[in-house]
Amino acid sequence: MNVNVNGTTLAYDDAGSGDPIVLLHAFPLSRAMWRDLQSALAPNYRVIAPDMRGLGASGQASSASTQEMADDVAALLDALDIEQAVLIGLSMGGYVALDFTRRYRRRVRGLILADTRATPDTIEGRESREALAQKVLREGSAAIAEQMLPDLLAASTHANKPEVVAQVRALIEQNTPAGIATASRGMAERTDSRPFVPMFEVPALVIVGADDALTPPKQAEALAAALPQGQLAIIPEAGHLANIENASAFNAAVHAFLAQL
Ligand code: MLT
Repeated sequence: MNVNVNGTTLAYDDAGSGDPIVLLHAFPLSRAMWRDLQSALAPNYRVIAPDMRGLGASGQASSASTQEMADDVAALLDALDIEQAVLIGLSMGGYVALDFTRRYRRRVRGLILADTRATPDTIEGRESREALAQKVLREGSAAIAEQMLPDLLAASTHANKPEVVAQVRALIEQNTPAGIATASRGMAERTDSRPFVPMFEVPALVIVGADDALTPPKQAEALAAALPQGQLAIIPEAGHLANIENASAFNAAVHAFLAQL
């Protein structure tokens, strides 16, 4: 399905019925990364999964900050007449969930932040984002898949789950260079969420892959400790894309949290 929001078009899935849950995907992927969780939740919940602007099947935009993405999610919920939802954001999706919670706190029924962080980019981090943007425009999306795959997935996934590696590679390659470049530059500008997290008085769960090299368990522990109602779940045999690498453990942690609400 598609909806026009804030000058672009968002493609999204809307499956099941019940309390609404919104799934926010990582960079440089798309909502297709949520396939397993979506089918696990849809028998009991209404599951809404958008492609962020510029990625997946959504329309391009001249800018794509995580704040603009959060505003897109709010506009999508408006269009669907949904006042409150549980947000589940992984990595870039987590940045969007943090921005959404800062801007629309009352619309958040609960928050799951997976393989993400509240900290902003360092100067070197911003330079790498710009270098990545220039590289994808020059060399294409496959070059970015090649560059990022070692960090996105645990060594055990690379060794034992070639189908997962192939799936993630395909999802990255399906994105356009322009969409990847715009999102990379957008993430570099994101807000430092650390001053706001202690005010997020909502049920919250932080999930992290035990072998996450990009946002390691230490960062997840700090985030869970800073959230007033923060819980922590560590997923074994998983790196940064914990929901794909160990879907059964990830989905079980999500179910256990949702059952408490
Ligand atoms: C992601 O998985 O969304 C990205 O790795 C996030 C980032 O680069 O900060």
